[in-house]
Formats: sequence, C-alpha cells, structure tokens
Amino acid sequence: MAIVQFSKDMKWGAATASYQIEGAAFEDGRGLSIWDTFSHTPGKVKNGDNGDVACDSYHRYEEDIEILKDLGVDVYRFSVAWPRIFPHGTGEINQKGLEFYHKFVDKLLEAGIEPMCTLYHWDLPQALQDKGGWANRETIDAFVAYSETMFKEFAGKIKHWITLNEPWCISFLSNYLGEHAPGNRDLQLAVDISHNLLVAHGKTVKAFRALNIEGEIGFAPNTTWMEPYSNKQEDIDACRREIAYFVEWFMDPVFKGEYPQFMVDWFKAKGAELHIEEGDLETIHQPIDFLGINYYNGQVARYKENSGLFDSEGIDMGYERTDIGWPVFPEGFYKVLTYITERYGQVPIYITENGSCYNDEPENGRVKDERRIKYLKQHLTALSRSIESGVNIKGYLTWSLMDNFEWAEGYSKRFGIVHVNYRTLERTKKDSFYWFKHTIANGFFEN
Ligand code: NOJ
Repeated sequence: MAIVQFSKDMKWGAATASYQIEGAAFEDGRGLSIWDTFSHTPGKVKNGDNGDVACDSYHRYEEDIEILKDLGVDVYRFSVAWPRIFPHGTGEINQKGLEFYHKFVDKLLEAGIEPMCTLYHWDLPQALQDKGGWANRETIDAFVAYSETMFKEFAGKIKHWITLNEPWCISFLSNYLGEHAPGNRDLQLAVDISHNLLVAHGKTVKAFRALNIEGEIGFAPNTTWMEPYSNKQEDIDACRREIAYFVEWFMDPVFKGEYPQFMVDWFKAKGAELHIEEGDLETIHQPIDFLGINYYNGQVARYKENSGLFDSEGIDMGYERTDIGWPVFPEGFYKVLTYITERYGQVPIYITENGSCYNDEPENGRVKDERRIKYLKQHLTALSRSIESGVNIKGYLTWSLMDNFEWAEGYSKRFGIVHVNYRTLERTKKDSFYWFKHTIANGFFEN
C-alpha cells in the first residue's frame, strides 16, 4: 500500500462537450452543425446514432449540476455549441442560445463550481462547412467573432477559456482519416486545416487580451506516447514522428513560433505542403496562460516501411485494453507530460481529459466499474510522478462526467463516471464516481 497524495491547490473536475450531452438539437433557434449532418448520414456513426437527444442535458442541466456538487469538483469543463450562438456561423446572434448558457453558468457558480469553457469542441456550424469549413480562412474570422461575443458576454463569470479541443482530431482525424465530421480523406486538406486552426487559436488569444478580460486562456491538444520497440534508430525515429504528429505539430508553433521542420518535410514527401501566410506564425505564437492536455493511451511502436503515414506500426504488448480497444498505458501519461515540460518549460497544465471506456451496466441500481477505478488510480499515480518530476500540474479533469455520444461510436461506448440510461435518461452514479468523490475530498488515495 502506498499513498498517492496531491497538493491542496490541485483543482479537481470533470468534463463534457455540447454535442455529446446536450440534445435539444433543433430547439431555441440552434442552427445545424457538421455533426448533425454527419450523424444523420447513414453509415457514418455506429448504429445510426445521433446527438438529437443525447443525455438531454439542455433540459436536465440542473440535475447534472447537483451531481457535480455531490462529486465535490472545483471545476466543470463544458463546451458551447457555436450554432446555438450563431445559427449560421456568423451574422445574427441567437439570444436564446446565450440565455441558455447564462442560466447554466449562473447555476454552476451558485454551486461554487468554476466553469471552464471550451469554445470549439467540434460542432462547426454547417453553414460555414458549406463554404469550405476550416479550410476557408473566413472560418477563422467567424470563430474569432463568436469567441469575442462569448468573452464579452461572460466576462467576470467564466475565467477559464479553451479555444480548441483536440486540433489533431479536427484536422487529421476528420479530414485525412475521414472518421469524424465532415469525413474527408485528403492529407493536403488536413494539413491546411491544422494550420488554419492554429491561426484561429492565436487570433482568439489576441482578441481575448485586447478585451482585457479577467481570466486565463489556453488550448487542449490530444496527446499520446509511443515507446520505441527497440533502441534502433529507425524505431526511435518512427516513434518520434508519431509523437510529433500530436505534440510538436500543434505545440511548437504555439510555444516556439515554428513548425518542426522534419514533419514539414515528411508531409511534403507525402504530397502535402504547408502553406503559411505572412504573419501567421507570429499570430500563433501568443503566450497562453495554461495548456490543456487530453491523454487516454499510448503504445510501443516500431519502424515498418510503407506502413501508415509515418512508416510505423504499433505492437500489441498484451497490455489490458479498455472496451473501446485502447491499450492501458499510464507510463505514457508520465512520459508525455515530462517530455512536454522538457521541451516547452514548466507551462501550467490542466489535464482537461483523462478517462476510460468501460461499458458496465447497472445491476440493482449499482454500477461496479472497478476497471475504471483501476485506470484512474494508475493514471493519477503517473500524474503524481510527473508532478514530483517538476511538471506544473494545476488540475485534473476526468472524462467524462457521464456516458455520452461518443462520436463515430455513438452510444455504444461509455466513458462516464455516471451511467446514463439512453431510454429513460436516468443517471446512476457508478462506483468510480464514489471513488473519485472520496479522492477529491481527501486529496489522496491508497494504491
Ligand atoms: C476526446 C474528445 O475530446 C472527447 O470528445 C471524446 O469523447 C473523448 N476523447 C473519448 O474519446
């Protein structure tokens, strides 16, 4: 038995995102997003699921906040549905959309919970997609205008802002691998979008500073770790490329004002050029107040000629896998956090997402998800190691508060510490909820 202890200043929280929980897809003037289109296109989402109702949090947010209160969190990370605020992406504001988030944020504040707001968690207004989406630089300006509206509207209420959630997913997963909306398969398009996203991020940070609004702003890339199969240089290089795809590609421009050249060259060799306009790198290279890190998994990988985008292959080491098939690799969490700190310095970091998919169902009103508790313990222990090693961790937010619409997997994959019955919309706190609640209250757990 060992005690894993966290400092009193550590902020604890849970996270969700608008399209995954809100439902009410056609209410109060909300416009369509690319996820409405994608999920209503046959064959795109498992079982034909969509977010029309989801967890119905748009109507049940008071109940959700009661659950958060019981959990004892300091922070709740949620996202705003851009098409609720600007149904067509730009132009006229939908007051009803703003009213909803005011009611919601006021309730959170009343409950003593700090709101952490993600401005973009993937529900791009369809009207903007119709004009090219993130490949069109006009979308950058539309995003900045929407963000400014939110900053002004919620000044003094929301003090933690995240511009983009997982820019790798928005660009490569959605536009090269085609798995998420809008479902394109085009490397050039994905590279262009990754750059435009970073410009949008930088411009938004600038706008936030110009408004002189109290609070902090950052972005939340998804990370992973690849451990080389051997100490051969080719294996080390293959892993380096895989890590850079998630880490350096998005963080170097923000923290250093440049792209990693070996990746620019690699993409070029694969037929995709990086197009940078004058002033872009300076715009992207804005100081941010914190870095959000999402981490779920990693693996051992090695060089394999002509395999995937990076001449690499993952090796099945027999690690346990969660119910979505991802290997449990807490070591990678420690490694990527220390890697980021070595590369960019002791940036304040919030773990904006970490969690696991286990599909345990309630039995007599109880959900015994001990595998999730184990996952949380392993990752929190890795986190504690990283703190001891000098990583500047400010907070830990688990994904997710409740089971929800898991994108292309629909409702078939459950990440919540609260179970949602999608027929009755009843919420049931899982064993992991109670474990996390005690850990938050104590500031430590026994391993
Ligand atoms: C990352 C995404 O931000 C979130 O929306 C998703 O549900 C989780 N990972 C789990 O895949």
